[in-house]
Amino acid sequence: MNLPKRYLITAALPYANGLKHIGHLAGAYLPADIYVRYLRAQKRDVAFVCGSDEHGTAIPIQAMKEHTTSQAIIDKYHKIIQQNFEDLGISFDIYHRTSSPLHHETAQAFFKVLNDAGELETKETEQYYDEKAGSFLADRYIKGTCPNCGFESAFGDQCERCGTALSPDELINPVSTLSGEPPVKKKTTHWYLPLNRHEEFLRNWIVGEHGDNWRANVVGQCKSWIDGGLQPRAVTRDLDWGIKVPVAGADGKVLYVWFDAPIGYISATRQWAIDNNRDWQPYWNDKDTKLVHFIGKDNIVFHCIIFPVMLKLHGNILPDNVPANEFLNLEGDKMSTSRNWKLEMQDYIDDFVNKENGGGALVDALRYYLTQIAPETKDSEFTWKGFQDAANSELTDIFGNFVNRAMVLMHKLTHGKVPPLHTAALTEADKNMLAQLAKTKETVENLLEQYKFREAQFEVIDLARIGNRYLQGKEPWKKVKQTGENGQPTEAAQQDIDNTLHICLQTCANLAILINPFLPNTARKMLHMFKVVDKMLDWENAGKTKLLSVGYSLRAPELLFRKIEDEEISYQLEKLRNNSLAASVSPENKTDTTVTAPANNPQPPAFKPAIQFDDFAKIDLRTGTIVSAEKVEKADKLLKLSIDLGSEVRTIVSGIAQHFKPEDLSGQQVVVVANLAPRKMRGIESNGMILMASDEKGKLHFVRPQNKINPGAEIN
Ligand code: MF3
Ligand code: ZN
Repeated sequence: MNLPKRYLITAALPYANGLKHIGHLAGAYLPADIYVRYLRAQKRDVAFVCGSDEHGTAIPIQAMKEHTTSQAIIDKYHKIIQQNFEDLGISFDIYHRTSSPLHHETAQAFFKVLNDAGELETKETEQYYDEKAGSFLADRYIKGTCPNCGFESAFGDQCERCGTALSPDELINPVSTLSGEPPVKKKTTHWYLPLNRHEEFLRNWIVGEHGDNWRANVVGQCKSWIDGGLQPRAVTRDLDWGIKVPVAGADGKVLYVWFDAPIGYISATRQWAIDNNRDWQPYWNDKDTKLVHFIGKDNIVFHCIIFPVMLKLHGNILPDNVPANEFLNLEGDKMSTSRNWKLEMQDYIDDFVNKENGGGALVDALRYYLTQIAPETKDSEFTWKGFQDAANSELTDIFGNFVNRAMVLMHKLTHGKVPPLHTAALTEADKNMLAQLAKTKETVENLLEQYKFREAQFEVIDLARIGNRYLQGKEPWKKVKQTGENGQPTEAAQQDIDNTLHICLQTCANLAILINPFLPNTARKMLHMFKVVDKMLDWENAGKTKLLSVGYSLRAPELLFRKIEDEEISYQLEKLRNNSLAASVSPENKTDTTVTAPANNPQPPAFKPAIQFDDFAKIDLRTGTIVSAEKVEKADKLLKLSIDLGSEVRTIVSGIAQHFKPEDLSGQQVVVVANLAPRKMRGIESNGMILMASDEKGKLHFVRPQNKINPGAEIN
């Protein structure tokens, strides 16, 4: 194999417009980190770059939501996301920002090179303009009624209720979100990247050159794009947030975010080189560099079609591979920010990592499970039960258990020292176990080189599994009872004990090296127990059988992992359900439902601040009887209920669909907040709210009078 001279590894730059969830982590950052840690252990020359994507309409829109400035938004989220990655062991060499002057300069120069070479086209079109605000309107800045479902607050690019992709022209009664006025059409000129000129290059490069060595999902998506015919793509926008188009007369125009963001990989490399006194150029210009982009599948077209065309025109190298992952679902549903169905990195860190001493074991538990379920070839699913099983039955019971048994037995049977190997006394099982070390190394290495992280990690755990079986078969704890006249084990018995533990300890050392790219905290802990330096983790040591020297005394074993308790799991499930319920009932309401942390005795939530009786008296509580119930289309949490309140039958939409079957509900008595202002949910006007109590498992129960009474009765 001809090794590349250097590696440049990138992970998609996350938008600094909000917290990122574990789907993002599993999609791009974790696999990239595993690969990079492996390369570093191989002593290869590697730069791992990432940073915040701080432009595009996503930023000012979030600023409007949070009633602050775009600058405040990117400053806030850049910092949090960077810290989250660090806490979870994602070891970027640099985490840069596209708002940095160096990036602005790099992106502008890049644009100029293409423009001066005549590789861009300009075109005049008509676009929506807000006369009152004096500004062109990005699609997201226009709201109107969805032609598909009638939702009144659909965006110009998408209806958030029914999910339909829209263009602003399709909206009924469009208004600008800046001024609230109807927008007008106005002429504007933009720069386009004529992708149509590069179809043949792309087809040859992707299908011809990489058709067999890139992931099938990636090649497939690109092929269908190319087959569908490529169109010129606008690379500028009328917007005041972004990088100014570096051409005279282009006032008020910025580079399209997807033009500037991938150039962020280049500016990040430049900044890294400055910080480390290196030359950045070969990383982007020398054919001997292996460039790999780790991304999620929604970014494929940008990294395989648009950016490569830009790189080619600019004279840079092209990616060697783009290992894109599919999506990670959560507990049976797609992860979604608007529906609050997600697990943010920050949440995991708060609930698991920061509470723990150092938290390394729980960082590794998450990394382990996310790699085990990595959506490498198809969508996959995170479940809390699956997380618990992975941590308890695999990490603790297989890996942790093997290492712990080897260490404990060594302290008991061989005086806390690495025993010698008596070659003449080696059994078949001993020889097989020793041979397994080299075999596993080779397999893991091949899989990692092919970006098959999930299988590679499986093989490492399998080595621990094989080790457990070997130790179980050799039974050194029984051999110690084969004693001679002096009461000590016979020579043959002691030799066999020595061999077994010697081999188990060398296996442990191998496990540390092999697990290091996946679970770096675990590997470090093992080094500490073995009293050896980092250097042992060099990949070239994997497969070796003499890593720990004979006669060397090792520390007492520490537990590598801890079990995840049932209460921790049910707490997370409850939190997930409650948060999404809050979001489904009131999309505007940003306050999270309070959920308390699990204690030995689960505690109810803290009380709310005191109110006056008058405040309470404003609430009109009535008994009601459910007449009928049905599911709300395309909303898996909502039921539409008809409720008899004595004087009238009300329609109430309630977020209880996951707790009750509609057919079980008619005739049930409930308590209704009867004077709650009406609100529309999924196009249905809801007139009131039902009172529910949530038990310790997060299951909902109706609150109602002790005995059935007439509907419409007042409750005081
Ligand atoms: N910010 C984009 C997203 O989250 C990814 C940008 S990747 C880059 O989908 F290549 F443009 F940097
Ligand atoms: Zn719609």
